[in-house]
Amino acid sequence: MPTEFSFLPELASTFAWQVDALYILMVVLTIIFTGGVFAAIAYLAIKYKRRSDDERPTPILGSIPLELAWSIIPLFMAMGVYFLGADLYFRLYRAPTEALDIYVIGKQWMWKVQHAEGKREINELHVPIGQPIKLTMSSEDVIHSFYVPAFRTKKDVVPGRYTTIWFEASKLGEFHLFCAEYCGTEHSTMIGKVIVMEPVDYQNWLSGGSGKSETMVQAGERQFGQLGCETCHKQTSSGRGPSLLGVYGKPVLLENGSEVMVDEDYLRESILNPQAKIVEGYKPIMPTFQGQISEESLLQILTYIQSLGAAE
Ligand code: CUA
Repeated sequence: MPTEFSFLPELASTFAWQVDALYILMVVLTIIFTGGVFAAIAYLAIKYKRRSDDERPTPILGSIPLELAWSIIPLFMAMGVYFLGADLYFRLYRAPTEALDIYVIGKQWMWKVQHAEGKREINELHVPIGQPIKLTMSSEDVIHSFYVPAFRTKKDVVPGRYTTIWFEASKLGEFHLFCAEYCGTEHSTMIGKVIVMEPVDYQNWLSGGSGKSETMVQAGERQFGQLGCETCHKQTSSGRGPSLLGVYGKPVLLENGSEVMVDEDYLRESILNPQAKIVEGYKPIMPTFQGQISEESLLQILTYIQSLGAAE
């Protein structure tokens, strides 16, 4: 708990101060312009007050330099704010490749978290300090929004697709996690905490707990077998479905001649709605797995397919 009153939440991620700086810059600019306009109104109202009934003012024909000044100066200010904002936005929403992957599922009314090593938690998210963390998120039911004010980061968590955010915690401790999208009667209880730990403590925490759990990739591989995926998707091109070896992150040619990037959303769609996009040279014979796979299992199968892509 912060002891002194603070106008803004504490700063606990590497770009938190940049978000604040931009915000404060916009507040200051707004105050300057609002103050300027009101001061000008007051000054001009007094200066050009009608002093007698028969007073006739001298006509004013305008001033090109003045008009150029009040157009060009604010243009540069506005474009400055725009470029600062755009730059920050791109850095905020594009995760560095070395980021640690963690998976988040929102449901009414809780946050479920899976770490790649297999550890799971609910309404808590343990992360190491000083390392970029990438969250891949989806929802089981309605739209939620993952919001950590101290990190200045927020992103909607949407059913039927994956959204990602990333951050790098710069301060040890516990920070509020909120759902920032009204999602039903218990929306206000859909809260949790992010626990930022030293990397060593995080490793200990990951390996702690009951027994040795399987990693997400192992769980994905197991279900890939159990669901019978591998009877068609063999590791060679001899299967009835395309081989999934090395496909992740690359474009694939479809039957209709278009190309699609093999990413989380494409793989997800191909599992739940296989007829949507058929790979060139294959038949639309795959059954849907809609309703048979939980969001957790989908993420595990995705990490398994990703691991096949990396294994070259
Ligand atoms: Cu989930 Cu509000």
